Amino acid sequence: MQIDILTLFPGMFESPFGDSIMKRAIEKKIVEIGLHNIRDYSKSKQKSVDDYAFGGGAGMVMQIEPIDLCMQKLKAERTYDEIIYLSPDGELFDQKLANQLSTKNNLMFLCGHYKGVDERVREHLVTREISIGNYVLTGGELATAVIVDAIVRLIPGVLSDETSALSDSFQDDLISPPVYTRPAEYKDWKVPEILLSGHEAKIEEWRHEQSLLRTKLRRPKMFGKEE
Ligand code: ADE
Repeated sequence: MQIDILTLFPGMFESPFGDSIMKRAIEKKIVEIGLHNIRDYSKSKQKSVDDYAFGGGAGMVMQIEPIDLCMQKLKAERTYDEIIYLSPDGELFDQKLANQLSTKNNLMFLCGHYKGVDERVREHLVTREISIGNYVLTGGELATAVIVDAIVRLIPGVLSDETSALSDSFQDDLISPPVYTRPAEYKDWKVPEILLSGHEAKIEEWRHEQSLLRTKLRRPKMFGKEE
């Protein structure tokens, strides 16, 4: 998968993509991530990328030209399945959307800043707008990192045990059951007896019950959807 990210702050991605599973997926060339500094596409002497909003009001607006020039260059190299703008008023990101996006070949993410981007970018250049939650971040970079992480781990070959992505919370509209490891007793906190019984069928049944219980308690709106 090719992922291209348009940002004013490429350095913000060094840490999320520089460790652990993301790092390995990049090294194994399962995913290729291109970071593109929008400022490099500014035609102004000062390399400015934003300007005052027409009609007045506080806050700067990201201009369309540098964004369009960067997109044009990338679109000449490949066809994108989606060009995604990160915005708090976009469609809410969830596991279903992560699954959908993980099957694509080429994705582009546009990270906004300041008061956002000129509306014409949203009208004419992007294909989709996504939010990672009903709160406002300083920009789209962290939201992009979250979405890319959730997508990349679903690509076959990224996780060492491929089945583990399938048993994630939310993958079947259920929350995962609790897990334990050694020691079986710590202070006087014990691991549930059933998990030490070696009875595979009973353990599976217990895990499913726990999943249902957790979903009912923690995500009551989701409960029953898996049926
Ligand atoms: N940019 C600012 N806040 C955001 C959010 N919650 N989701 C996606 N992009 C954002």
